[in-house]
Amino acid sequence: MSVSRPAAVIVLAAGEGTRMKSRLPKVLHEICGRSMLGHVLAAAGELEPERTVVVVGHGRDQVTRHLKDTAPEVDTALQDQQNGTGHAVRMAVEELRAQGVDLSGTVVLAYGDTPLLRGQTLADLVAAHESAGNAVTVLSAKVPDPAGYGRVVRDASGAFAAIVEHADATEEQRAVDEINSGMYAFDGALLADVVNRLSTDNAKGEEYITDAVAILRGDGHRVDAAVARDWVEIQGVNDRVQLAEARRLLNDRLLTGHMREGVTVVDPATTWVDADVRVGRDAVIEPQTQLQGRTFVGEGARIGPATLLSDTRVGEDAVVCVAVAYEADIGAGVRVGPYAYLRPGSVLEGDAKVGTFVEVKNSTVGSGSKVPHLTYVGDADIGVGVNVGASSVFVNYDGVSKNRTTIGDHARTGSDNMFVAPVHVGEGAYTGAGTVVREDVPPGALAVSVGGQRNIEGWVRRKRPGTPAAEAAERAASGEQRRQGE
Ligand code: UD1
Ligand code: CA
Repeated sequence: MSVSRPAAVIVLAAGEGTRMKSRLPKVLHEICGRSMLGHVLAAAGELEPERTVVVVGHGRDQVTRHLKDTAPEVDTALQDQQNGTGHAVRMAVEELRAQGVDLSGTVVLAYGDTPLLRGQTLADLVAAHESAGNAVTVLSAKVPDPAGYGRVVRDASGAFAAIVEHADATEEQRAVDEINSGMYAFDGALLADVVNRLSTDNAKGEEYITDAVAILRGDGHRVDAAVARDWVEIQGVNDRVQLAEARRLLNDRLLTGHMREGVTVVDPATTWVDADVRVGRDAVIEPQTQLQGRTFVGEGARIGPATLLSDTRVGEDAVVCVAVAYEADIGAGVRVGPYAYLRPGSVLEGDAKVGTFVEVKNSTVGSGSKVPHLTYVGDADIGVGVNVGASSVFVNYDGVSKNRTTIGDHARTGSDNMFVAPVHVGEGAYTGAGTVVREDVPPGALAVSVGGQRNIEGWVRRKRPGTPAAEAAERAASGEQRRQGE
């Protein structure tokens, strides 16, 4: 079915969302890495409308700022007072008119608090609308519990007759399970006219957009309702319980998509992915794993369990286990964790290893290099084939400024080293255990900074008599004497 580009999409987002009990306007609450409004705009964007207008009111400054940051191509229309859905649409139409936008063509209406809406559902609505040549097509849905919604009333032949708001509905009408989703495809020119004819003669004293449907029908235009395939999509979020339900449903949809594309998700119940995450084939996502933002996971990589990756790139066949990473770049075949923390600017090149209780920040670990145990790597450039001994610290901060450490290819640094930056360890150099590297180490040299060892014989016997240590030392000494006597 071919669908024209709508002249405009209008998204209503002026309501207060009182039941969220939040400082944040309702439509800005996030699920799966985007605001609810962002999800609706993504769905609407699939229609490639000429214009998109978001009607703002409550929290307008926050909503407008959010749109500037995330969807700069979108316009806003201000609805100062929330005088109803019809009034909100009128504000959008007036804004478009003021901008000289030609509204002939289709105009789609949606709400900013329905994050499960898919672009395909809007495309199906527009297709049904245009192929029937309707003045307006209501997106309806059959729901398990229609209470509170406007009902779609049909005549004996099953043809669309009217939308009746819950408050105005008879018992018989309330039994109808087909409801008005609040989303519509309108003939733009007719919409631009009819929004000026809405009365406030109703229980709430508001301009209802649903009245536009009745007026157009009264004028003799074709008006119909198209039933959405999946009612879940049109569900609005009003409180944080529904927010969590929507998040779970969207997460399931995203995971299902990844699994269909060849990703193994071991435990969908404890795996959370954001909408913009990409995962390659044969990747395995272990339980209790969250992939956030623009994280990319390459083919065959294994992520988790208990791992959080945010805006992080993971190369093919890498293994990341019990780790947290923000804005990190993990190369192909790299092994990370368990218990590793990669902070922004961490670049682990192919086949590198960052092991257990290791933190990396703003550093490159070269190809095949290993930082296996208990180490902080901050502001360092580590070459290829390097081994960093256990329990080392890249001392990058002198109390005033941050400095870099560089370690040349194939260097081997001992355990418990302190690299006091700025400092350079040359190619192929070694450092002894416990070295405090304050000065550059030439290529191929061995650096040691610890003095020779001194043993004070009999110290424990004299200073700690009667302790288990002294007794053990005594036993060892007499055993030694016996052996010497034999
Ligand atoms: C509306 C429909 C109802 C439908 C239901 C679906 C009308 C009169 N009724 O009822 O048939 O079943 O949606 O959810 O349209 N908004 C504004 N400005 C306003 C008023 C509302 O931007 O002045 C926004 C709200 O933020 C909200 C949406 O429009 O996102 C719906 O408004 P609401 O008042 O909740 O309409 P309902 O009574 O739910
Ligand atoms: Ca509502």
